[in-house]
Amino acid sequence: MKILVVGGGGREHAICWKVAKSPLVDKIYCAPGNAGIASVAECVPIGAMEFDKLVAFAKEKEIDLTVVGMDDPLVGGIVDAFEAEGLRVFGPRKNAAILEGSKAFSKDLMKKYDIPTAAYETFNNPEDALDYLETAPMPTVLKADGLALGKGVLICRNLEEAKAGVKELMVDKQFGSAGDRIVIEEFMTGREVSVLSFVDGKTIKIMTSAQDHKRAKDNDQGLNTGGMGTFSPSPFYTPEVDEFCKKYIYQKSVDAMASEGREFKGIIFFGLMLTPDGPKVLEYNARFGDPEAQVVLPRMKTDLLDTMEACVDGTLDKIDLTFEDNAAVCVVLASDGYPLAYEKGKVIQGLDTFKDKTGYYVFHAGTAFNHKGEIVTNGGRVLGVTAKGNDLKEARANAYAATEWITFENKYMRHDIGKAIDEA
Ligand code: AMP
Ligand code: GLY
Repeated sequence: MKILVVGGGGREHAICWKVAKSPLVDKIYCAPGNAGIASVAECVPIGAMEFDKLVAFAKEKEIDLTVVGMDDPLVGGIVDAFEAEGLRVFGPRKNAAILEGSKAFSKDLMKKYDIPTAAYETFNNPEDALDYLETAPMPTVLKADGLALGKGVLICRNLEEAKAGVKELMVDKQFGSAGDRIVIEEFMTGREVSVLSFVDGKTIKIMTSAQDHKRAKDNDQGLNTGGMGTFSPSPFYTPEVDEFCKKYIYQKSVDAMASEGREFKGIIFFGLMLTPDGPKVLEYNARFGDPEAQVVLPRMKTDLLDTMEACVDGTLDKIDLTFEDNAAVCVVLASDGYPLAYEKGKVIQGLDTFKDKTGYYVFHAGTAFNHKGEIVTNGGRVLGVTAKGNDLKEARANAYAATEWITFENKYMRHDIGKAIDEA
């Protein structure tokens, strides 16, 4: 089979790497890809939002399956564009990707179908939001309705911060039209867990759990980022939690979408908070997490391509989805300054060290080739260094040891990825 993967980050590198292991695969293309992805796929200089060009490319190369890694094209309707031309594609259609694309939609869905989540109100103008805040309990959480690179969520400790937040989102439009509508939500406390799943419209199969570290600095300080590191599985995702979520969250979410005439095929990523009142949904995403994919896919035993094909065909019930009984940790190596300003073009050394090591992986997030053919930094998140171990502690020690193999100017990482393991 010929596969096209859409995206160019660490998640897409992990997807390409895993797809390449399938005996069904003859050739992988990735648009736009990056310097690491180039070792497993042929990179094609087409942007993820250039639907017409991507469709034309898929037709020309007779691609058998296109896999969309990123949220923006999914929410923008890339799957509909491919299907309209009779092309096979893995991911939710636009009317289902709204599960990630609109927080107001997903909150209303959860309310209607009685899926546990924080209490909330939706506002279409700043005056009503400010009125509501006068008597709202604090802390409170403001969320831009639309996509905002994972940054449209503001945790406000008091009324003053909340008012400033409304101004930022709805008046100053910090995140553009994503803030035309906001959700104001009850503040919850507890451990966070990411659970990814495959969905074929009716059947859902849960992957192993993971936990992300969203803040830029150690001890969860600093700004929100796309994710600075992950571990899998989460020791806090106990059999009891799993049982609760299977009963009240996972299948109910899939059925709710089907009942709404929005059949969901692809990945549903459940962002859960394990609150004192039980697990609640923080958010849904319509794609693999980044860097959750970098710890979940290396532990997946089942053929990824087979599983994605089954999602497209509606035969996921026939797939036996299994994971290794071990652990993985991913530490993101970033450019110092991320998520604000940072320099690019720094030569990266040590990548070859990973080549002959089993259980160690270096997934490229923001890398490129310079004119001399050297691999250089080309983004805020540069690399995801993943290592496996028999348990989480061993995996963490292995991952941090492997971060030392890589050098580049302005290399930055968190030193406490997986610290929560010690508290389990
Ligand atoms: P989201 O994009 O909705 O996952 O929100 C980003 C982050 O904000 C989450 O990972 C949580 O750490 C935090 N967060 C979101 N909603 C709430 C809430 N209702 N209570 C407490 N923290 C929240
Ligand atoms: N790592 C969080 C996300 O992909 O949304």
